[in-house]
Amino acid sequence: MTHSKAAITGVFGYVPEYVLTNAELEKMVDTNDEWIFSRTGIKERRILKGEGKGSSHMGAEAVKGLLAKTNTRPEEIDLLICATTTPDFLFPCTANLICEMAGIRDVGSFDVQAACSGFLYALTMGSQFIETGKYRKVIIVGADKMSAIVDYTDRTTCVLFGDGAGAVLLEPNDEGYGLLDSIIRSDGSGQPYLNQKAGGSRYPPTHETIDQRLHYVYQDGQQVFKFAVKKMADISAEIMEKNGLAGDDVAWLVPHQANKRIIEATANRMGVGMDKVMLNIHKYGNTTAATIPLCLWDYESQLNKGDNLILAAFGGGFTWGTAYVKWAY
Ligand code: UT7
Repeated sequence: MTHSKAAITGVFGYVPEYVLTNAELEKMVDTNDEWIFSRTGIKERRILKGEGKGSSHMGAEAVKGLLAKTNTRPEEIDLLICATTTPDFLFPCTANLICEMAGIRDVGSFDVQAACSGFLYALTMGSQFIETGKYRKVIIVGADKMSAIVDYTDRTTCVLFGDGAGAVLLEPNDEGYGLLDSIIRSDGSGQPYLNQKAGGSRYPPTHETIDQRLHYVYQDGQQVFKFAVKKMADISAEIMEKNGLAGDDVAWLVPHQANKRIIEATANRMGVGMDKVMLNIHKYGNTTAATIPLCLWDYESQLNKGDNLILAAFGGGFTWGTAYVKWAY
């Protein structure tokens, strides 16, 4: 056993080129920019176009960028974990495909499915391999092609989601930087409120499941909103209390980007001003497992060594989680 913590030593993101604006959505469904922006904070989102491209494409682009940026050779990587709810295939897993595309060979790689909390789950898991001393370089990816499972005739969901991927490199740190604490939770009784009903083992694809549009995201927005506000705020307050942190001690809140109003409620509960909250929901929408690493990527230049970051997420399952990270560079 070592006493090392797992520090994030690099971050890289990838978003597809195509920008789907609120104005374009107005032409597709009965919605408008004013409703979308005031209820969610979203102005536009990115959509992955191109035959045969899945979440692995975006994940691999993020990983290749991360390797180049951190001067890491693929053969130095010990493990890659991918959080995704939109895997390319039911199997093999997306992490296997990302490794292949990024030239990472003969290492363990697997997917984590915890919906919008997936990145926090994967980060928590990956850090264990560093803390035990088993591995020295672990990549955590969050990648989701939500456009593959969004019904663009359903105005209640199609305005919310976008595609993207982000990746971080974890390495041991003995100087007190890195992932200092995390909490992950779930409650399967949330299943009826946020799900994709068909395509798995309970309801395999049939003509009926397709006719009934059961292969798309279903969300009871109001119910999910209520749980999300409570659980994300509660768990963020809990990790602060557990680690003796007051609002002023937190340099940045890094929240899952599902709804600006949920983010504001979380920041308010933590006693953190909105000037210390990472926000990119306006340009990417909800990219599920990719929101948190994409925030870190966007805000990386504003981060300083020693900054206290609180990461927080809530998603389908229900799942929720939080992490306390002392930024290492
Ligand atoms: O990331 C995973 C976790 N997910 C979340 O955290 C999402 C949580 N939920 C939410 O963010 C919000 O519930 C939504 C943004 C999804 C919806 O906002 P809301 O304020 O809860 O709206 P609502 O569902 O209560 O709908 C209000 C009205 C309804 O019309 P009526 O019944 O009042 O006439 C909807 O039909 O807004 C209508 N509406 C729309 N109008 C224009 C729903 N979607 C739209 C739309 N454009 N796109």
